[in-house]
Amino acid sequence: MKRKLAAGNWKMNGTTASLAEVKSLVSGHAAPSVDILICPPATLIAQAAGICSKSPIMIGAQDCHAAPSGAHTGDLSAPMLADAGAGAVILGHSERRENHNETSDMVAQKAMAAHAAGLIAVVCLGESLAQREGAHTLDVIAEQLAGSLPDGATGANTVLAYEPIWAIGSGLTPTLAQIGEVHDFIRSLLGERFGAQAAQDFRLLYGGSVKPGNAAEIFATSNVDGALVGGASLKSSDFSPIIRALEA
Ligand code: PGA
Repeated sequence: MKRKLAAGNWKMNGTTASLAEVKSLVSGHAAPSVDILICPPATLIAQAAGICSKSPIMIGAQDCHAAPSGAHTGDLSAPMLADAGAGAVILGHSERRENHNETSDMVAQKAMAAHAAGLIAVVCLGESLAQREGAHTLDVIAEQLAGSLPDGATGANTVLAYEPIWAIGSGLTPTLAQIGEVHDFIRSLLGERFGAQAAQDFRLLYGGSVKPGNAAEIFATSNVDGALVGGASLKSSDFSPIIRALEA
């Protein structure tokens, strides 16, 4: 039985003072019935992982390079992140795709690197507002999914996150019908590629303005196995109720 997943993406937020939020989550969720992942900035991974060493909470990274080492100033490899204590890495977030020109092919290369280092790849997909309004959402999702997932992807080493770009940090969320349509579509595409049985093993997260107030209804939506939460993951007082809504 696959466990649901509440994942927090701190983005470029947080200094050592923010480790208090990790400590608060550790003490508030000693035996969660869902998986919990916190992805702080890379500067905090080792300390956050230390705080979680006796907790089921997993610490993750927000990106990795596709190569294991080499002359790539400023980059971090998947084995380095694993060595620092990460168990997962977010890949292909729309902010990486937009700000760093990451293509789906690059995301697939990074996912292979993550898998080789024993990290769970949290692969993000999502349409822009113009693509949604032009009725291209499902085409975009299909193209990103096909290009971003390596052949070795399984439900054990890969999580998918559907994050409509226009819903990220905007306070806007799709209707539950829109979320369900895309999640059902992703599940069917996974079935075509990996087989219906294997497709069921993948966790499909929704991301984009998930808050304590809308989490329960989103989690009740078809094929939603959890959330990737940005702004509302920065404070344990916001993230905890989202975790509890997923446990309900
Ligand atoms: P948000 O971000 O929850 O702040 O909208 C989600 C994300 O980008 O992962």
